[in-house]
Amino acid sequence: MAIDNRLIDPDNLIALANKDYKKLAAHIIGSTPKENMLSVDEVIAFDRINQDVTSSRAVTGNKLVAIVKVTRKCNLRCKYCVSWSDRPDATMSFSTMVTMVKRLLSTPNIQRFEFIWHGGEVTLLKPEFFRKLIWVQQTLKTPNQQISNSIQTNALSMSNEWITFIKGIGLPVGVSFDGSPAINDRRRVDINGRGCSDRIIRTLNKLKQHHIQYGALMVVDREITTCEITPMLSNLVAAQIDNVEFLNYVPSNTQTSDIEQDKRLITYREYISFLSAVFKIWWQSFRDELSIPLFEDIVAYLTQETSQHSQCYWDQNCAREIITVEPNGDITACDKYLGTPGSVYGSILKHDLATLYEQSEFHNDMIVEEQHSLRALKSCEWFQFCRGGCSHDRINSLKYDSKASKTCCGSRELFNTVAKYASLAREA
Ligand SMILES: C[S@@+](CC[C@H](N)C(=O)[O-])C[C@H]1O[C@@H](n2cnc3c(N)ncnc32)[C@H](O)[C@@H]1O
Ligand code: SF4
Ligand code: SF4
Repeated sequence: MAIDNRLIDPDNLIALANKDYKKLAAHIIGSTPKENMLSVDEVIAFDRINQDVTSSRAVTGNKLVAIVKVTRKCNLRCKYCVSWSDRPDATMSFSTMVTMVKRLLSTPNIQRFEFIWHGGEVTLLKPEFFRKLIWVQQTLKTPNQQISNSIQTNALSMSNEWITFIKGIGLPVGVSFDGSPAINDRRRVDINGRGCSDRIIRTLNKLKQHHIQYGALMVVDREITTCEITPMLSNLVAAQIDNVEFLNYVPSNTQTSDIEQDKRLITYREYISFLSAVFKIWWQSFRDELSIPLFEDIVAYLTQETSQHSQCYWDQNCAREIITVEPNGDITACDKYLGTPGSVYGSILKHDLATLYEQSEFHNDMIVEEQHSLRALKSCEWFQFCRGGCSHDRINSLKYDSKASKTCCGSRELFNTVAKYASLAREA
């Protein structure tokens, strides 16, 4: 990146757009001499990997989103979560991180990379690891490649060192919070079974105080769908949350689990009915104080004919463009498939992404499923927007919902609701 000298002038810094601020911060980290950034052993490891790992082959796709499980260790034991692990090898080593970045950035046709720092709980590690990750990205990227980073955290406890780091590099933050302190405390519990809303809210206050932008992520399971919506949205606002995304509950993917006994499970259609009900209340009473990008994208599509997608669900091509990286360098499909037999493609320590994709029967099945499903879904009047929706939801819909349609991804009720309200607003 060519740096405009005016960007370094303190008076000009105030006027920097967020995007430029992030680029400048990454550039400054990348300009640090390696001896000042890495330990002696890390310099040796970096030089060896940089020399040994040479070219990668092209993959189909325009961008790559890597959900990087930097550590699977966690300080919470959320009742619906199987993402944490306390195995001794649950944290990524420096060498694995460098090899992963080198192999991914060597993919010749990809110019846009999004790294999501994910876990487990990444704030259990020191920011130093991530400063080095940015340094490695900046050192290995080509001039045309654009790289973004973001963090997903449980916000249980965030050290001042983390706050300073996040602020300093303009890192977007996602925080998990399930609806209201009462609900959150029943399911998002610490190792001693204690709820953690008070600690999350303390972290949110800290983030607010430092003008750090964050959005909340909320898991929607059966309990949430039976909650009253107005108090739930009011509770989010009271907890200082002004941006929220929803995640439908993912039941266990393993073959041994007893789905009949799973009280959290909702079908995709039930999830969409819930979102439709939320939309109505949000549109009438909350849209000025609470941003819900999912709804805003649909409204923008209907009113301005833009096709901005803040969520992977409507982006198609997720089999090729979204991967999860395990702490040991294994590459798998999106995190939603965790535990599905065959979903590990292989190790990025051994092969480039193109080879891993080619070798994986699971990956090839995902592509076939997508082509097959999209043929039937294309006739839906909403296909231009949803592009078939999420592959994991499509598969689970057919598995758990005897009334699931093969010609609609299941989101039609929500789109129709948004269309009705948006057109009423236009007419008013
Ligand atoms: C696995 S966590 C990892 C990051 C961090 N520990 C956190 O809680 O935000 C990422 C997101 O997945 C959500 N999640 C965990 N288990 C889930 C499940 N069974 N279904 C849907 N979302 C789930 C969490 O609530 C969180 O928002
Ligand atoms: S904090 Fe995140 S990773 Fe940890 S148990 Fe909860 S959802 Fe899972
Ligand atoms: S499987 Fe669904 S959630 Fe996962 S990346 Fe694809 S569209 Fe997104």
